Amino acid sequence: MFDRDTEWDEIVRFARVPRSGAALGVVSGRRRLGKSFMLDALVRASGGFMFSAPEAVEADALRQYGAALGTHLGEPTPLRFDNWDEAITRTMTLAPAGPLPVVIDEFPFLARASPALPSIIQRALDPAGQRSNTQVRLLLCGSALSFMGGLLSGTAPLRGRAGLELVVRTEAGPVVLGGYPVRVASGVVNDPAAHTQHEVDVAAFGRDEQGREELLAIGEAKWNETVGVSHLQRLERICALLRSRDGIHSDRCRLLLFSGAGFTSELLATAQSDPSIQLVDLDRLYAPS
Ligand SMILES: Nc1ncnc2c1ncn2[C@@H]1O[C@H](COP(=O)(O)OP(=O)(O)OP(=O)(O)O)[C@@H](O)[C@H]1O
Ligand SMILES: [Mg+2]
Repeated sequence: MFDRDTEWDEIVRFARVPRSGAALGVVSGRRRLGKSFMLDALVRASGGFMFSAPEAVEADALRQYGAALGTHLGEPTPLRFDNWDEAITRTMTLAPAGPLPVVIDEFPFLARASPALPSIIQRALDPAGQRSNTQVRLLLCGSALSFMGGLLSGTAPLRGRAGLELVVRTEAGPVVLGGYPVRVASGVVNDPAAHTQHEVDVAAFGRDEQGREELLAIGEAKWNETVGVSHLQRLERICALLRSRDGIHSDRCRLLLFSGAGFTSELLATAQSDPSIQLVDLDRLYAPS
């Protein structure tokens, strides 16, 4: 068994909390980490509906969706939808009596064949669309990480819409961090000399030999940007600020740069000769440790 207690609790809470109208959740993570397994268990436990999208053209995918939904509803014949607008509108009526999970697994296949699908779902979740919605907890799942991350970011139609955004992962381990983390945080570091503040996406703390808390690493994550030397310099500045503070042991602080879009060759060359700089792409982030 993979230990997925934390993720399971989050998913169950999202799927079960009664609140009028539909809600959107996005579940992503590298392949073979148990996403489908977990969502299938959720749907079985609550009598929900799960559709695993085929890698097919739009008409075929819609036909299969209508057939699966018909079966779920105990209809004698498949439901027929002319377009995804109709299919999503119907889907949003599936939970009149209380919250019910509806999972679309392998969502990137559908969105590739029907690029308008994210904005169709967005419209269904708009206040006007919500009036005819029931308590559907729509969970979109996929392992194409840059796609799933991009779904909710930047100018994407679904940005800010998700009530749950769950990345199933194998945590970065001691090799990346240079120690065993006991606490991971994020926050803001003041930079009085420059009259500014720096946001820190990830700060991992461990314990040194004396048992004192020690800053193992700070990191920055970018889904859609190529990460370069300027990102590294920002982390170096933050690290220097933290080092100058009393009470934080950070002599061995590593700098972690996460990217969904890759790194510049200059940064790759710099990192190669310096083990305190760790570049983590999606494969490394989600690789089984
Ligand atoms: N908690 C678990 N305990 C035991 N076995 C599990 C667990 N989760 C998943 N598995 C098994 O691990 C394998 C991969 O799981 P699953 O297919 O759910 O992963 P996934 O994240 O959906 O992968 P993909 O991205 O390829 O669809 C399956 O054979 C599944 O039965
Ligand atoms: Mg799966």
